[in-house]
Amino acid sequence: MRERVADSRGRIGVTFEPKADAEPLGTLPPMYPEWLGDRAFTEAHGTRFAYCTGAMANGIATVEVVVAAARAGCLGFFGAAGLLPDRVVAAVDRLQAELGDAPFGVNLIHSPQEPRVEAEVAAMLVARSVRTVEASAFMRITPSVVHYAIAGLRRDGDGQVQRRGRIVAKVSRPEVARQFLEPAPQAMLDGLVREGKLTAAEAELARGVPLAEDITVEADSGGHTDNRPLVAMFPVIREQALRIARERGYATVPRIGAGGGIGTPMSAAAAFGMGAAYVLTGSVNQAAVESGVAPAARELLCKAQISDVAMCPAADMFEMGVQVQVLRRGTMFAARAQLLRELYLRHAGLDELPAAERVRLEKEVFQGPIDEIWAGTEAYFLARDPAQVEKARTDPKHRMALVFRWYLGKASRWAIDGDPARVLDYQLWCGPAMGAFNDWVKGSFLEAPGARTVGQIALNLMEGAAVVTRASQLRSFGAAVPAEAYDYRPVRLGVGG
Ligand SMILES: Cc1cc2nc3c(=O)[nH]c(=O)nc-3n(C[C@H](O)[C@H](O)[C@H](O)COP(=O)(O)O)c2cc1C
Repeated sequence: MRERVADSRGRIGVTFEPKADAEPLGTLPPMYPEWLGDRAFTEAHGTRFAYCTGAMANGIATVEVVVAAARAGCLGFFGAAGLLPDRVVAAVDRLQAELGDAPFGVNLIHSPQEPRVEAEVAAMLVARSVRTVEASAFMRITPSVVHYAIAGLRRDGDGQVQRRGRIVAKVSRPEVARQFLEPAPQAMLDGLVREGKLTAAEAELARGVPLAEDITVEADSGGHTDNRPLVAMFPVIREQALRIARERGYATVPRIGAGGGIGTPMSAAAAFGMGAAYVLTGSVNQAAVESGVAPAARELLCKAQISDVAMCPAADMFEMGVQVQVLRRGTMFAARAQLLRELYLRHAGLDELPAAERVRLEKEVFQGPIDEIWAGTEAYFLARDPAQVEKARTDPKHRMALVFRWYLGKASRWAIDGDPARVLDYQLWCGPAMGAFNDWVKGSFLEAPGARTVGQIALNLMEGAAVVTRASQLRSFGAAVPAEAYDYRPVRLGVGG
């Protein structure tokens, strides 16, 4: 772009090309996508761009997604949630082999129902010296996350505390952000020292640094979300970080990034405009060729419009009424999941369901007899968590919850496996960013599902964000900047590798 501020017969305007009848008043200096965000973020993580691809559960953020992000100069997080530890180990091995020193991260998800799995994954990440972890779903921090963050702390020659592992903590509430912005709680440090997981020296250094140096403010997004707007949340958490850093006398202020709803150059530019240290995308990467969902599921995502999303019950916290944001167009999942939640609230157990409801469920939702579904569910829990079966034997409502959760869990699996008989049941976590992205890429090469790669998506969003930012700069000088100056159409960009 070569915009100028030009004076033509007394009028001041902007031109992309030199004009014979216009006298140049000034030239707007260039601006590069590499300059968006906080330089300290790219330096700390070794990336070219201040851009992350967020974790997507059940390995939907595959090794391929993470490798593609790294090759494009970004930081990708592997979708470890919902996977057994041995699959996470295998993914880490592959990432380390394929990427060597290039940056990548792995999700450490809070698992209140399976604290052992959470601790095991954290210990593995420490043992394998994984440099970056995206910590998410924490309501309260746990010893696992403290273990990962503090193991390997040391003081360098200049007296600065250096980390071996960095936490990028995803939060959507100030009360959770605060726990990551504060130093690790003393009682947890003491416990970890007693268990031999931390040294006394590491625990001592932990007292002067925040648990996490990067906090992602996650606004209305695909999957679990509080549906809050980024523009409302971001300033609150940024201010909180500044305040805590001042009170604690930290050497540097934790960096605050932004995610949720980012699917166009304008939304990325808006986040950077608020001062986001980095941006993080999710939904748009699920539609990329490298993602772990089946081609048929990606095609559905590529057709979504901005309002084609709905909130519906989450499989993992169904009984508590926790919700997730999913794709609504082309699948009946949201409506069926909501029906299950309503039946759960209204009835004391499966045997209490009215005959007509039972028939409908067996025919339309489960596609099989409820007794068979229960037999399969019981076998699954006997192997993984027998206490659930014990409880279900005496508590019919719990038995009903387990059967309903079978459907909710399977619906994600069907979308990953691409089961053609279950297209109408695909559960695809998805936020409005997907529809916004589809709208932006219409008519460009990125409209085609097969052209959507993690790298092209990232680079085009960042290139476009630079164009938008530059147009805003020019407008802020008081120049008459036409609306078209904010337009950026996707083009094939050179993705490194
Ligand atoms: C399919 C899907 C699965 C997700 N799974 C996880 C997860 O396991 N852990 C996590 O921290 N975030 C998860 N997220 C959230 C993303 O990492 C990211 O924060 C979010 O999608 C950003 O908002 P957006 O969808 O509006 O881009 C998931 C999002 C999607 C779309």
